[in-house]
Amino acid sequence: MRGCFVTGTDTGIGKTVFSAGLAGALDGYYWKPVQSGLEDETDSDVVRRLSGLAPERVLPERYRLNTPVSPHLAAHIDGVAIDSGGLELPAMPAPLVVEGAGGLMVPLTREMTYLDVFARWRAPLVLCARTTLGTINHTLLSIEAIRARNIPLLGIAFIGEANTDTERTILDMGQTRRLGRLPHLPILNDDTLRTAFASHFDARNFLDGAA
Ligand SMILES: Nc1ncnc2c1ncn2[C@@H]1O[C@H](COP(=O)(O)OP(=O)(O)OP(=O)(O)O)[C@@H](O)[C@H]1O
Ligand SMILES: [Mg+2]
Repeated sequence: MRGCFVTGTDTGIGKTVFSAGLAGALDGYYWKPVQSGLEDETDSDVVRRLSGLAPERVLPERYRLNTPVSPHLAAHIDGVAIDSGGLELPAMPAPLVVEGAGGLMVPLTREMTYLDVFARWRAPLVLCARTTLGTINHTLLSIEAIRARNIPLLGIAFIGEANTDTERTILDMGQTRRLGRLPHLPILNDDTLRTAFASHFDARNFLDGAA
């Protein structure tokens, strides 16, 4: 399968906005297998709004859980058991961008984290990282966890304002590649995202396999 998995150092750092830009740039598909919280706009709704893709390019979530908490708890509240068998990757005719939930060690059940699922899928992982204070620690820890499971790491997608030393430190100490940096967009819509993504990333780097 061509495509990649998008994870991040934490929740709320911009994975969905980045994934919308990436899926649009690849003219691909987007899949959020597990969505916790349905009251506000879901991640899939956001990608439909921002990617510029036809709505059917956003695949239905496998698990739609009502409460905006960690998936293991949201599933428990809804009386649902998340089963790794339900998280088989769909085969698509164009690149598939898959977004996890929160960060790598987010539990899907009390026995299984997203990291376990990424390890099973084995497709290249994009790690989204903030550029603000605290990110060096979070990002280097995430890289260690990815490498400990032998998951192919495609590189880091930074999100936020430029912070040259922080980026360099992460890339040097983490021995990985910079995929680009998506700045904060004061006006965020499908046009501004498409333009920003095209000027800050090379979509071909996401189809190359891991660096
Ligand atoms: N590049 C950006 N420019 C402007 N706003 C952004 C950008 N990236 C993210 N945001 C805003 O920040 C908020 C969080 O972003 P987003 O939903 O993409 O985070 P996330 O990492 O996917 O969160 P979750 O862990 O809940 O899936 C949203 O309100 C989003 O619109
Ligand atoms: Mg998201």
